[in-house]
Amino acid sequence: MSKNLKPLRIAGVGYSVPETIVTNDDLTKLYETSDEWIYTRTGIKERRVVSGNQNAVDLGKEAAKKAIEKSGFKPEEIDCVIAAASAPPQLYPALACNIQARLGIPDFVPSFDLTAACTGLIYALQVARGLIGSGLYKNILLIAADNNSRLVDWEDRGSSILFGDGAGAMVVTEAEDGVDDILSLDVRADGSIGQYIYLDTPGKNCPLVEPCDEGDAKIHMAGRDVYKFVVTTLPKYVDKCIDEAGMTAADIDYLIPHQANQRIIEALQQRLEYSDEKVISNIKYYGNTSAASIPIALVEGVEQGKIKLGSTAILCGFGAGMTWGAAVVRLREGIC
Ligand code: UT7
Repeated sequence: MSKNLKPLRIAGVGYSVPETIVTNDDLTKLYETSDEWIYTRTGIKERRVVSGNQNAVDLGKEAAKKAIEKSGFKPEEIDCVIAAASAPPQLYPALACNIQARLGIPDFVPSFDLTAACTGLIYALQVARGLIGSGLYKNILLIAADNNSRLVDWEDRGSSILFGDGAGAMVVTEAEDGVDDILSLDVRADGSIGQYIYLDTPGKNCPLVEPCDEGDAKIHMAGRDVYKFVVTTLPKYVDKCIDEAGMTAADIDYLIPHQANQRIIEALQQRLEYSDEKVISNIKYYGNTSAASIPIALVEGVEQGKIKLGSTAILCGFGAGMTWGAAVVRLREGIC
């Protein structure tokens, strides 16, 4: 894509979701709602949630293991780990460090988290593109993992209906055949509307000074504002990314969007004039799994025969920040 960067190959993709399912009907035990209300507003029927001590690190490790296996590399060949979690179970050690240690990736390999909420995987891909493109690192493991179910306010029916838990991972490497799998890639942020979705880290001031507001470590979301922002911003932004790839929407095989709301996915579909077969949506079964939603949809789409590899796809997402991003990528045979 960029003449100054070495080309990047997407070598392997994997995902993992917890087994426990919470349906819309189950949620009626928590508050006044209905399957009909949730499904018509969001396209969601059920979501997966962690149970007991299972958390995003466990999910991320499984997804990463599968992505590494598919890539054909050994864990000791990974030379950098970047994890994107909206809110990892521990702020430190980083989710990436926890997974590096559990997967047998050498103990000197740089491993760090980046925060871009649901756009995290596209941001991580952009960082990896710079690192591989400049020749600094060769084989980078990207992980997106979240246990949103521990962070939502289960008394807030306006937001807790949306989220689910899951992880996705991608191994990217220098493309030695010279073919760049990144046809275009761009990420954005507008911090001035950060209040649309936020999660405080609670804390108290030194007892010797005036106290601060403590925060409640729960996801707060102005759903309608997010919705309006996304449907006015994302479709035309995706057009621009397709343009930058030197392509038209018709040239691209699939749209694999962040799974946040079926109505948002349909707004993108209409803009691109895509048939249902070209649009990958599995929000019905997983809800919004943050940055993991794109790799989960990609791998599951291949497993279910909805996506044929040896093709191209538009990946696009948005999330807290507000952040957003899109990529037009090549999906080679054998990546998942
Ligand atoms: O990755 C980041 C992701 N976030 C998003 O993508 C969020 C995008 N936004 C949305 O998906 C939608 O805004 C929601 C699905 C979250 C909400 O749909 P909405 O049509 O914007 O509903 P609303 O929040 O404006 O609420 C409409 C009504 C309210 O009642 P009143 O005040 O009109 O009497 C709510 O109290 O619906 C009520 N309501 C519910 N009723 C039954 C809100 N949540 C529920 C519920 N069940 N779960």
